[in-house]
Amino acid sequence: MRERDTRVAIALTGVGKRYDIVSCFAALTNTIAVDPNPLAPAQYAAQVRVAPPRIDDPAYVPFLQELCEQHAVGAVLPLTDLDIEVLARAREDGLLPAMTPSSQVARATYDKYEAHMMLERLGLPSPPTVLPGDDLDSLRYPVMVKPRRGSGARSIHLAHTPDQARFFVDYVQEPTMVQWAMGGEEMSIDCLGDLEGRCLNAIPRTMLESRGGESIKGQVLHDRELIDLGARVMEALAVRGPATIQIFRDPEIGIGITDVNTRFGGAFPGPAYAAREGRSYPELIVRMAAGDQIEPHVGDFTSGMTFTRYYWQLELDQQMQPTGRELVRPEPHRPLPPRR
Ligand SMILES: Nc1ncnc2c1ncn2[C@@H]1O[C@H](COP(=O)(O)OP(=O)(O)O)[C@@H](O)[C@H]1O
Ligand SMILES: [Mg+2]
Repeated sequence: MRERDTRVAIALTGVGKRYDIVSCFAALTNTIAVDPNPLAPAQYAAQVRVAPPRIDDPAYVPFLQELCEQHAVGAVLPLTDLDIEVLARAREDGLLPAMTPSSQVARATYDKYEAHMMLERLGLPSPPTVLPGDDLDSLRYPVMVKPRRGSGARSIHLAHTPDQARFFVDYVQEPTMVQWAMGGEEMSIDCLGDLEGRCLNAIPRTMLESRGGESIKGQVLHDRELIDLGARVMEALAVRGPATIQIFRDPEIGIGITDVNTRFGGAFPGPAYAAREGRSYPELIVRMAAGDQIEPHVGDFTSGMTFTRYYWQLELDQQMQPTGRELVRPEPHRPLPPRR
């Protein structure tokens, strides 16, 4: 680990269970975890933890502003979809140093149908997608019925016939859209943009297994087509900070982008480990927050490693303070003889 950069602090909102991200930042600089839930485990990896007002409360942004002043915060990064647009607007109004795209792009990528329209407008590949009011009988099946504002793979249903599609549209109690069910392997590209929206790096990985929006098994790939696509999307949307782009390579229609998240995506191994020494995304973010210029180095990372993730836990006392008690200690993972 490099020397701690004490020039600026970093604030992360909606930290939830993303302990690896928070501890990576906390090892680099003073890190403030913002989460309303006392049981969000990742806040215990930060130096400072605070409970904010609700995101839709007018006091939310002033609360973060005060936090930024008090702790010399150089960048605010959202870890969920919920406040990206609010933070983006606060940035445009000169209120917060949020690492987000424009509020317009934040709004469009939060609504998957808007995102589809925007990608098509920009000449970027998106699978055929219609709204439930359109003619569902003339589609090619199967299709996916997806909430327009879904996250964590919630309420997504495969429909094999127009009747099944209509059933799921009715069954899911929120606005949905109907999308070509992509075949082939699903992959993600973890990208980072600088403060001008230039792409600094794009690191593809396979998604061998995902649960609740978190990718738990995957391999970092040096796939030129995906690296270039990641950079194209980042620059077309002028994304500041991290973003994860999900794609499938469908045997019939080729590459289609199924989800764009303008925040750290559901797996951290690429941004944290695959980048070269000194260029992990947290390190670059802390440097940008402190005012450094970073040269783009798209495609420069280590590929081939496989990551398989697992659960850990914290014990909290009656005052919700970590007891520090560990029944089992994480051991350094030593090489073992090959499995027989
Ligand atoms: N068009 C599609 N074809 C096939 N699978 C899809 C499609 N859209 C989504 N999925 C599957 O559902 C998961 C969650 O969908 P996604 O669009 O990423 O929404 P979110 O992550 O915001 O819940 C994806 O990771 C993918 O496995
Ligand atoms: Mg997704």
